[in-house]
Amino acid sequence: MQLFLDSASLKDVREGMGLGLVDGVTTNPSLIAKERDASRPADARRHYRERLKEICALCPGPISAETVGTTATEMMREAEEYAAIAENIVVKVVLTAEGLRAVRECAARGIRTNVTLCFSATQALLAARAGADYVSPFVGRVDDVSGDGMALIRDIATIFENYNFATHILVASVRHPRHVLEAALIGADVATAPLAILKQLLAHPLTDKGVAAFLKDWEGA
Ligand code: G3P
Repeated sequence: MQLFLDSASLKDVREGMGLGLVDGVTTNPSLIAKERDASRPADARRHYRERLKEICALCPGPISAETVGTTATEMMREAEEYAAIAENIVVKVVLTAEGLRAVRECAARGIRTNVTLCFSATQALLAARAGADYVSPFVGRVDDVSGDGMALIRDIATIFENYNFATHILVASVRHPRHVLEAALIGADVATAPLAILKQLLAHPLTDKGVAAFLKDWEGA
């Protein structure tokens, strides 16, 4: 299972890569908006493109860049722009009829896609049929409205297995390590999470306690 960092922060990308926890990065308009500061270009599009270039230089894995257009034509214009930034760019489009049109067009032009804002297994089925490379079901947001995010992942995994779809399941909107654990037990291809959650996967208080005890005993040996 691959782990992606869900962030547009260069500091997070550097730290996550340094810890060996990051195979790829997912970004979106909300994450990039958090990164704007006075020293950055006022033009939001230019700022996003520059940030994507910096992230691509830090991480050789797949880097998701989200389109904000609402029509397939607008999405394709952005897709071409993002794809020209680096070879590891994956273009993110929303799961709408226009988004799926753009996915088909990207597939025909050899541009990889990640279909985002997926909340049902039938939506995931349509994304796979359109030729998406990744589909991103938002488990945390499903749980937020009293749904069962992991049941959604199980259903998508069954459908993809039934029909041998090559589309990867990218579990998104991850809120805690248990989401990652359950996604791994189901066999999801990727989980994307903020750095704090990726670091939680590594840490255990009993490991820290055990290390301290070993060192203390070693010093007294
Ligand atoms: O990868 C999607 C993610 O950024 C959304 O997370 O926590 O806003 O639902 P959240």
